[in-house]
Amino acid sequence: METLSYSPRETASLLGITPRALAGALKKDVYSPEDVWELRGKLQLEPPALGTRKQLFLNFKGGTGKTSLSTSYAWRLAEKGYGVLLVDLDSQGHATKCLGYEGEDFQATLLDVLVKKKPVSQVIQKSLLPNLDFIPSNLSMSTVDLALMPMAGREFKLRNALKEVEAHYDFIIFDAPPSFGLLNLNALMATEDLIVPVLADFLSFHGLKLLFETVQSLEEDLGHVLDHVFIVVNSFNATFKLAKEALEALKQHYPEYLMPQVIRQCTRFAQASSEGMPIFRFDRESKGAADMQSLIDEVLSRLATTKQGQAPAAKSA
Ligand SMILES: Nc1ncnc2c1ncn2[C@@H]1O[C@H](COP(=O)(O)OP(=O)(O)O)[C@@H](O)[C@H]1O
Ligand SMILES: [Mg+2]
Repeated sequence: METLSYSPRETASLLGITPRALAGALKKDVYSPEDVWELRGKLQLEPPALGTRKQLFLNFKGGTGKTSLSTSYAWRLAEKGYGVLLVDLDSQGHATKCLGYEGEDFQATLLDVLVKKKPVSQVIQKSLLPNLDFIPSNLSMSTVDLALMPMAGREFKLRNALKEVEAHYDFIIFDAPPSFGLLNLNALMATEDLIVPVLADFLSFHGLKLLFETVQSLEEDLGHVLDHVFIVVNSFNATFKLAKEALEALKQHYPEYLMPQVIRQCTRFAQASSEGMPIFRFDRESKGAADMQSLIDEVLSRLATTKQGQAPAAKSA
């Protein structure tokens, strides 16, 4: 696999320091992800701790950008210094591919964890970034739903399995399959936040309605309350009248959930997926990367706000 490197300018920007300060700490023509990681530690530039956040990219509809957005999101958070675990839940193994690997090359997946009780630490793999790990997926995952069916506590398998490792990570990001079954129910029970990529078309409304009904029954039947739901419009093309109308309708129906940032339609995104790369690896200068960065900034700022908001409540409890 092609190695990964950063120019001095990119490295300085990732670390949030000037190129001069970077040259003062370590002067090189190109920097490796390990250099960035070590410099971050040495210069004490770690991002503020948020506690472990578990976030699920979900939409029961396929092709809305769950994989493109979740892999790019996880990758960028890791580049920015967070410890991240990306969990590929889809038997198509697209998130695994987006990190540059073939799912079929891995013997063990979450199936072994959820069904055969293998410790989750034994299926975690290292990526090209020192602080981004992942759990791969392949076709064998397509049998998970059936295998879980007769099991006791079948909705809680993923949540319980992750307890072993979650303290090691700042973020655990799940890339969901476009299906409505036990695996996604497990993912919903394991997550704290939901990130819902939608396309700006009217078909997406039906999907969203089903999703919110599911979230509500989760609350009522299983007592699981999500902290945040973020709806993200993806592949937005403002030159289409229908897309603008759909965006307006989303604003009216889901004002409290809709993120102000949209991810614009961007051919570099489509190319990145076919090359097996997150957008930040494929083309950091693309508008797709810029939009993802704004989305991440907004999510991080909302997480920081709620964390502050929750602190006094936690104390008095
Ligand atoms: N913002 C975007 N602009 C252009 N193409 C996109 C964008 N986001 C995703 N795509 C493309 O749309 C297709 C479906 O995206 P994907 O992330 O695989 O969706 P899902 O995981 O929801 O099925 C992929 O070919 C991907 O490259
Ligand atoms: Mg996908």
